[in-house]
Amino acid sequence: MLDKRNELNAWDRDHFFHPSTHMGMHARGETPTRVIGGGEGVYITDINGKKSLDAFAGLYCVNVGYGRQKIADAIAAQAKNLAYYHAYVGHGTEASITLSKMIIDRAPEGMSRVYFGLSGSDANETNIKLIWYYNNILGRPEKKKIISRWRGYHGSGVMTGSLTGLELFHKAFDLPRDPILHTEVPYFFRRADRSMNEEQFAQYCADKLEEMILAEGPETVAAFIGEPILGTGGIVPPPKTYWQKIQAVLDKYDVLLVADEVVTGFGRLGTMFGSDHYGMKPDLITIAKGLTSAYAPLSGSIVSDKMWQVLVQGSDQLGAIGHGWTYSAHPICAAAGIANLELIDELGIVENAGSTGAYFRSELAKAVGDHKHVGEVRGDGLMAAVEFVEDRDDRKFFDPAKKIGPQVAAALLERGVIGRAMPQGDILGFAPPLCLTRDEADIVVRATADAIRSVFSNL
Ligand SMILES: Cc1ncc(COP(=O)(O)O)c(C=O)c1O
Repeated sequence: MLDKRNELNAWDRDHFFHPSTHMGMHARGETPTRVIGGGEGVYITDINGKKSLDAFAGLYCVNVGYGRQKIADAIAAQAKNLAYYHAYVGHGTEASITLSKMIIDRAPEGMSRVYFGLSGSDANETNIKLIWYYNNILGRPEKKKIISRWRGYHGSGVMTGSLTGLELFHKAFDLPRDPILHTEVPYFFRRADRSMNEEQFAQYCADKLEEMILAEGPETVAAFIGEPILGTGGIVPPPKTYWQKIQAVLDKYDVLLVADEVVTGFGRLGTMFGSDHYGMKPDLITIAKGLTSAYAPLSGSIVSDKMWQVLVQGSDQLGAIGHGWTYSAHPICAAAGIANLELIDELGIVENAGSTGAYFRSELAKAVGDHKHVGEVRGDGLMAAVEFVEDRDDRKFFDPAKKIGPQVAAALLERGVIGRAMPQGDILGFAPPLCLTRDEADIVVRATADAIRSVFSNL
């Protein structure tokens, strides 16, 4: 076993190009390789036998937890019966057709069709193309700009990396590209004018959006994209009334709304969709992660009836839509999706996310909220964040070079719990599997409080 572990370690350094990893440090062996060997419930185990409670559900995606037999069986049965057939020119499988019906049954009102992809990024690429196609068919070829928010995360492709509003994903990649623009992030804790209350700040964000639309010319602005609750940008719930105020601006200028529900779709906020949770009225919804709980790669663009009617006119004018992936609606992934959605219902996972989420966030706030270096404990459903500051009264942030967030995440891991140091700011994020129990939530809270104490006592 030791030989095997050493061999894997060497192969990893020499051949594996990891995503979101410091390339040089990893290749030189200056950062650890962690080889994960198994998972059960909310725990993963590495090949050295170390078990960790995964309080980030992989990358907020293993929503039903690890080791679910029902999903594994569905994948195996589909692979044996029919591993693949494409979905072009009207082809389908029982699995892909059934899953599209199950998704629309669960989606917010007014949704009509699902276009399947494999990742959140490709689903957002699809959305951008559908938005452009839609406006071309409506005879408005200049209405193409898409407004995203600073700190939004929408993927890593050329256009979706442009939608993403995080510096790390732009640097040295010549992003963002036209015609993508970024507006104010609804980050209440970091608002510039601290005299504003939540509703005033929400109004400020909506005003900034309106200013941008007017400056660009409403006839050039096609869509606005946002995550219901900001995820990778810091796990930040919207200030009260934000979505209502944004929606009013979008409606005024005939701008489409894309709800990027890659993280929030299928239960994370205690409702099936985040759009329902916050009263958004999207024209397109992006789904991925929770659709299969990451047992197989599958994503989707859910298209509203309003857009679908126009897209159909497009085909009548231009012929078949020139957009497709070989693996769209892959039957093995669709079988995983069906079993996953059934399991979510059978286990009452959505309700659990709401109730255990509220418990977890309140215990977390009690345990660490008064610490002198904790500026804010926030979240919604089963998403939570602890943001660290050097000084609470002045809301002074730490020098990023001190890497406080990563230090706390590392101390937490030593205590057997995985949280995520979010990429911009000293923010420790949590998004555990939605089957988390209260006892497991207590373990996470205790370990977090202990990790914070230890990091700051060593500063
Ligand atoms: C809101 C959101 N959209 C899109 C993506 C991109 O998804 P993927 O990594 O599957 O391409 C992510 C990934 O974390 C996400 O959080």
